[in-house]
Amino acid sequence: RTPAPCAMVIFGASGDLTRRKLMPALYNLALEGLLPPGFSVVGYARRDLEHGTFRDQMREGVNQFSRRRPVDPDMWEVFEQGISYVQGTFEDPGDYERLGQELRRLDRERGTQGNRIYYLATPPDQYETIVDNLGRAGLNKPGEAGGWTRLIVEKPFGRDLQSAMVLNDRVLRIFEEEQVFRIDHYLGKETVQNILAFRFANGIFEPIWNRNYIDNVQITVAESIGIEGRGAYYDQSGALRDMVQNHMLQLLSVIAMEPPIAFEADAVRDEKVKALRAIRQVDPARVDEITVRGQYSAGWVGGQPVPGYREEPNVDPNSMTETFVALKLFIDNWRWAGVPFYLRTGKRMPRRVTEIAIQFKRVPHPLFRGAAAESLEPNVLAIRIQPDEGISLKIAAKVPGPQIRLRSVNMGFLYGTSFLVESPDAYERLLLDCMLGDSTLFTRRDETEAAWRPITAILEGWAEAPPPLFPNYEAGTWGPPEADEFLARDGREWRRP
Ligand code: BG6
Repeated sequence: RTPAPCAMVIFGASGDLTRRKLMPALYNLALEGLLPPGFSVVGYARRDLEHGTFRDQMREGVNQFSRRRPVDPDMWEVFEQGISYVQGTFEDPGDYERLGQELRRLDRERGTQGNRIYYLATPPDQYETIVDNLGRAGLNKPGEAGGWTRLIVEKPFGRDLQSAMVLNDRVLRIFEEEQVFRIDHYLGKETVQNILAFRFANGIFEPIWNRNYIDNVQITVAESIGIEGRGAYYDQSGALRDMVQNHMLQLLSVIAMEPPIAFEADAVRDEKVKALRAIRQVDPARVDEITVRGQYSAGWVGGQPVPGYREEPNVDPNSMTETFVALKLFIDNWRWAGVPFYLRTGKRMPRRVTEIAIQFKRVPHPLFRGAAAESLEPNVLAIRIQPDEGISLKIAAKVPGPQIRLRSVNMGFLYGTSFLVESPDAYERLLLDCMLGDSTLFTRRDETEAAWRPITAILEGWAEAPPPLFPNYEAGTWGPPEADEFLARDGREWRRP
């Protein structure tokens, strides 16, 4: 799987994403020998920078954030030959002419054959301007050298259903759907891809993967970090838009989807879209019955004192933005009718952990009762996305001894011990897939919009109903007490990962 030579233009190259994620991913691909010959990166941003300065900044980013540190000087010397910088505004068509010249230079000098990837890593309010200008400059089409062009769009893709549709319309006026790669880095995680392998390469799980055997599904994405200097963005966004609309609904869709007819982009995405479209439409007037909002106050995380959300830089001191959300969704189809999907995510939780817990029903006729079975829990299949990646199955076992006493134990698979290789970063996989033209792990237009539909209804409901008295949970806790009561009302509790 070596892609054809190509150049990748990163719009917004002076931003955090480029330094933290994109360059380290590209560098690691280079180390693995997975990049095509002549591969080139063009940083494009407003700031006036020399090529050399830009290269140095990228090297520093790789040194700090790559999973393989420090930078190997010999490797870097080769890699940086392919890095250049174009200073330009997003608005001025003349700047895109200069970008075109740079790309033609790369075709001649580095053999990139007219193949281009444009990566939108700017604030989202620039996306439409950039796409329009790429179109105006003819950069959306193959140049004299022929080749292909692709567009990667970072999240957030819109603020609600309406704006996502408008953005899709604008993008698809200039690019064909096959050229558009909407990125959701969760799909690039090994453990997320493995859900497909787990479900569809094993014969024994699919028969029980339904409402007859599953009581409920819980998806937890807990983060111990706060908002990491992204106050201006986050305060306009909140946990529902930042995590649920994209990452968590993607997790939900791979758990809930029907088996695709082939492991191929459209076949997989057709099934994911069907699952998303089956999410029961939320009634904005009753949104409080299915959601809990939270915002953290000052507290302690990992033995360190941390400030409250409202004290973070660039956050409104009276902010009503949620940093925690719990919600309950139903998927109205034959497989899942009546099975609640509980989702929760929050910043400043006690630990970083992402886990999907499939909770099975109890046995139909208990043989073991009373003291014998007192500490027995129902079967749970826990898919640990990160960290300590793996899968465990909780089962009942007899405690050794003369009496019948049962206890829950775990059977487990851990990546760390089963595979002695380090997993690539999500961005490595996704950037490589885009170079190869494989969009299986990218979201299609209808998928993005299907995910926005329930989220938009929740946002509408929230806008009408007064938010709870914020802040309502202390940093370093598992969210507001209401989140526990929320499950208790259904006679269930959150699994403590
Ligand atoms: C990003 C969100 O998309 O995902 C961040 O904007 C969040 O707020 C991050 O921290 C989580 O990603 P990961 O890979 O660390 O789980």
